[in-house]
Amino acid sequence: MKKLLLTGGLGYIGSHTCVELLEKGYEVVIIDNLCNSDAKVKNVIEKITGKSVEFFKGDILNSKFVDKVFAENKFDAVIHLAGLKAVGESVQKPLMYYENNVCGSVILLKAMQKHGVKKIVFSSSACVYGNPASLPIFEDFPLAPTNPYGQTKVAIEKMLEDLCTADKDFTAVSLRYFNPIGAHQSGLIGENPKDIPNNLAPYIAQTAAGIRPYLSIFGNDWKTADGTGVRDYIHVVDLAVGHMAALERIKNSGYHVFNLGTGNGVSVLELLHAYEKACGKEIPYKFVPRRDGDIAICYADCGKAKQQLKWTAKLNVDQMCQSMVTYTKAPRQ
Ligand code: NAD
Ligand code: WQD
Repeated sequence: MKKLLLTGGLGYIGSHTCVELLEKGYEVVIIDNLCNSDAKVKNVIEKITGKSVEFFKGDILNSKFVDKVFAENKFDAVIHLAGLKAVGESVQKPLMYYENNVCGSVILLKAMQKHGVKKIVFSSSACVYGNPASLPIFEDFPLAPTNPYGQTKVAIEKMLEDLCTADKDFTAVSLRYFNPIGAHQSGLIGENPKDIPNNLAPYIAQTAAGIRPYLSIFGNDWKTADGTGVRDYIHVVDLAVGHMAALERIKNSGYHVFNLGTGNGVSVLELLHAYEKACGKEIPYKFVPRRDGDIAICYADCGKAKQQLKWTAKLNVDQMCQSMVTYTKAPRQ
């Protein structure tokens, strides 16, 4: 049985990835400092899977702590999801983002080097592409992020590439997620932002649940079919499965990069209406001016992942919304 270190494993994507890994028979050790998650998620993961997961509460910036976890465990690979992810906050507090995301990754990679762990799967983001010149977006498009958060992803990707050049036995896979939404089919884990949601899907969910009075739609004058922004929403469980594909299918050392999306563009209004269908009620909304830094359309070409990882997203937008509704209705621990 393979033993993996999963950083950020109690967060939104990490918890779903952990469930898929445990169900496939991997042994998983989680590091998380709980800055954007809850320790109770460990118990929920164990309840869903009937398997146990080891959890070390701590910060990847703490090199002694990270070294101790590596010294006590023999890992076959690392899945690195720990990071700060709020675009607006990264503009306000760039150093916090560079320190947490980039310096944290340096410490993790140094521990991997010291302990002879030679494979990493890293959570990158579609935001590395910035505003693409054409669509769909291919992996070889120029990297031009428009905010510090995106810059941290590019910096980490470059670091991984350089490490693969320096050490011919090292394997690094960057997965550029498009817009992950949805929740586990059990309804027990999902996205649960601690503050006012920055992203569309949790904002819609909270508006439907009556927590927010209405959804502000950022612009109805984009060059899209209905005037609202278009994105490539991908179910978080499909994304979780993508990590396993990266672990299992990439046998060659070196640096690899893949888009993980569905390849379909969905507008704000289309997502809103899909959620309304799933929850059976109308959701109030208002059009407001465009949000700074937004782009009109973003969707992936996923041919490379299909060909090399034998992976494609399976769940559609209705299933994504249905799973979110189930999650909002499930009792919380
Ligand atoms: P999340 O905030 O739910 O999960 C991240 C986890 O990392 C949290 O549990 C947090 O407590 C932990 N963490 C953060 N900094 C840490 C540190 N220094 N030491 C230890 N733990 C730390 O976010 P998520 O949506 O699950 O995202 C996971 C990863 O995927 C992030 O790296 C994010 O940048 C990336 N990503 C997310 C999206 C998205 O839309 N959700 C899209 C593209 C990429
Ligand atoms: C989607 C669409 C908005 C909220 C961000 C990050 C990206 C990645 C995913 C981490 C856009 C519109 C949104 C609202 C709205 N995260 N919208 N009202 O901007 O594609 O990507 O999250 O890596 O890096 O930049 O996602 O969910 O914020 O927005 O109208 O209250 O919904 O304008 O068209 P985005 P999003």
